[in-house]
Amino acid sequence: MRLVLLGAPGAGKGTQAKKLIEKYGIPQISTGDILRKAVADGTPLGKEAKSYMDKGGLVPDSVVIGLVKERLAQDDCKKGYILDGFPRTTPQAEALDKVLADMKSPLDVALSVDVDKNDLMKRLTGRRTCKSCQQMYNVYFSSPKKDGVCDKCGGQLFQRDDDKEETIKNRLDVYEKSTAPLIDYYKKQNILKSVVGVGSIDDIFNKIVAVIGTK
Ligand code: AP5
Repeated sequence: MRLVLLGAPGAGKGTQAKKLIEKYGIPQISTGDILRKAVADGTPLGKEAKSYMDKGGLVPDSVVIGLVKERLAQDDCKKGYILDGFPRTTPQAEALDKVLADMKSPLDVALSVDVDKNDLMKRLTGRRTCKSCQQMYNVYFSSPKKDGVCDKCGGQLFQRDDDKEETIKNRLDVYEKSTAPLIDYYKKQNILKSVVGVGSIDDIFNKIVAVIGTK
């Protein structure tokens, strides 16, 4: 299964990707996670990316396309993968098509997870993530038993730097302008599927599996 997850910031792409990797046994490739790791490690890439991410803008296409190309060439992607947060612009989508055409392995599905803008702000301001195991919580919808501590591993929870209200507004604007047009892009390729991303995480997951199939 070669899958692209589309959806606004906070739509639940990361949450659902974690469940999909278990079901399908394929890796999640999250450009956001790769970039956050580079920022945390203080690499040259991280230093460049940080200035864009802190403002809620997009890291330049050339940088992100290079990262994904390298990642797709790794062995664990042979059986498929879940692209989470990539592509995010039309040039990124076109570059991905070209790379995959060269590999003779086109995408199977582009899945759009649709959530109303009003719900997204609460999801993002309330998000907390475990530093050790990356388990996600939400102070409004799925809070940990003990404040700031991961139920699963006892790790410390943190709030992402870009989950501040002003930055979120910018991220949502950037999504509308640069990423939402990809819904039409994949519709024209006849590989677009959509689910409403509201309700329980398990119900949404079951809807996703029903529309993408078990290939
Ligand atoms: P990235 O990390 O990709 O962030 P994003 O797209 O903004 O998406 P999020 O991770 O915020 O949300 P999500 O949809 O994964 O939701 P989640 O499952 O976490 O990108 C960050 C930055 O990196 C970008 O702004 C950009 O600067 C840069 N970048 C990354 N990729 C790039 C690219 N390709 N090109 C250029 N720049 C790039 O859920 C959110 C919260 O909601 C959680 O608390 C969760 O518990 C909760 N939740 C989930 N599902 C539900 C539900 N059903 N009901 C209630 N709560 C729920």
